[in-house]
Amino acid sequence: MQIPSFIDGNPLFKALPVPVRIRMEAYLDHINALLAVENASVLKQMAPSAVRGLFLQRGRADEPAKMKATHRVHFDFKYPADNAKMRRLYEKAKRLQWNGSMDLDWSIDVDPMNPEVPLMGREFVDWDHLAGHGIVFNQKERQDFLWRVTSWMLSQFLHGEQGALMASAQVTEATPIFDGKYYGATQVMDEARHVEVFSRYLEDKLQLRYEINDNLFTIIDGLMTDSRWDIKFLGMQILVEGLALGAFSTMYKMTSEPLLKELLRRVIQDEARHVNFGLLTLRPYYTGQLTEKERIEREDWAFEVVVLMRNRFLAHELYEEAFAHQLTRRQWNTFVSEMPGMALFRRVMFERLVPNLRAIGLLTPRVMARYEKMGFGEFVHMPASDELTEADLLGATA
Ligand SMILES: [Fe+2]
Ligand SMILES: [Fe+2]
Repeated sequence: MQIPSFIDGNPLFKALPVPVRIRMEAYLDHINALLAVENASVLKQMAPSAVRGLFLQRGRADEPAKMKATHRVHFDFKYPADNAKMRRLYEKAKRLQWNGSMDLDWSIDVDPMNPEVPLMGREFVDWDHLAGHGIVFNQKERQDFLWRVTSWMLSQFLHGEQGALMASAQVTEATPIFDGKYYGATQVMDEARHVEVFSRYLEDKLQLRYEINDNLFTIIDGLMTDSRWDIKFLGMQILVEGLALGAFSTMYKMTSEPLLKELLRRVIQDEARHVNFGLLTLRPYYTGQLTEKERIEREDWAFEVVVLMRNRFLAHELYEEAFAHQLTRRQWNTFVSEMPGMALFRRVMFERLVPNLRAIGLLTPRVMARYEKMGFGEFVHMPASDELTEADLLGATA
């Protein structure tokens, strides 16, 4: 069921002050997203986080966000060597640590307005699409728009990294695999470093940071407050990390700015380990230790988060900042969805993510048709992240 839009083309609606219209459009959008969730128990699980993220916008409040953790901390005083592969990943992670303040050349001067060293190529945006709505940018304005889009994306990477920092601490506490605790501790360090470098890059070099996207806040809130340890792994280590790996690879390929390129190369190397941590943990658990009812719930939960990530990261923070008086939210959604750069981002992100869902056993025939309907059928048989080399990840097929 969907509430039909009474907004587009409605003269009464157009007459409303822009801030009121922005809120009403957003609420309608959010309500429709929730109504589209098919599995009632998944909807029930997501609803409290959706209220906090989408309607109360806790991520944008002035005071820090506090989330109530409800998971069990798993101790083992026998200190078992219980997973050799995880132990090898831990050794590798210790070897590959790097220092965000020393190993990157922060002396590089970054000028977002320099067309000779673009943060993103001009072909990232379909300028003709905007012109069709009467929005025509000159050269300088185009550069300014690309700076804002890049800052928006990097800001979401930064907020996602803070989520990963907290989530990796939680999964380290909650995992029943002892070798996973050793490994998890290295990921906590990795994520702290990622927060450090993205934050510094935005603050010192781009001098612009956007607030967290409400949908991203909702996903993070859901993971932090869920008591089931495997959902934390599924949400953060498979879905968010998988998506991030694709996003970082795409930006790595697109940017000409040398400091950002090197920063992303190093982060990608770390992130590949993080996704593998999720695969190593969940593959045996989901393919052998769950009841059918429990597995179905995970399948549906993962699918709804994928839908959310596929349809709702549309840079509304940018829209509300500069375009709400010229375009409706729906027109903006079409523009962003069809932007060539965004389409490439989406493709690579789901090319990374969907095979990982197959690898942990959550792409059963029961849900396959739904993924195919979203256009993800071609990704299903691609290699999972643990079968990819670093060169594959940096090469980001397109
Ligand atoms: Fe990270
Ligand atoms: Fe990560």
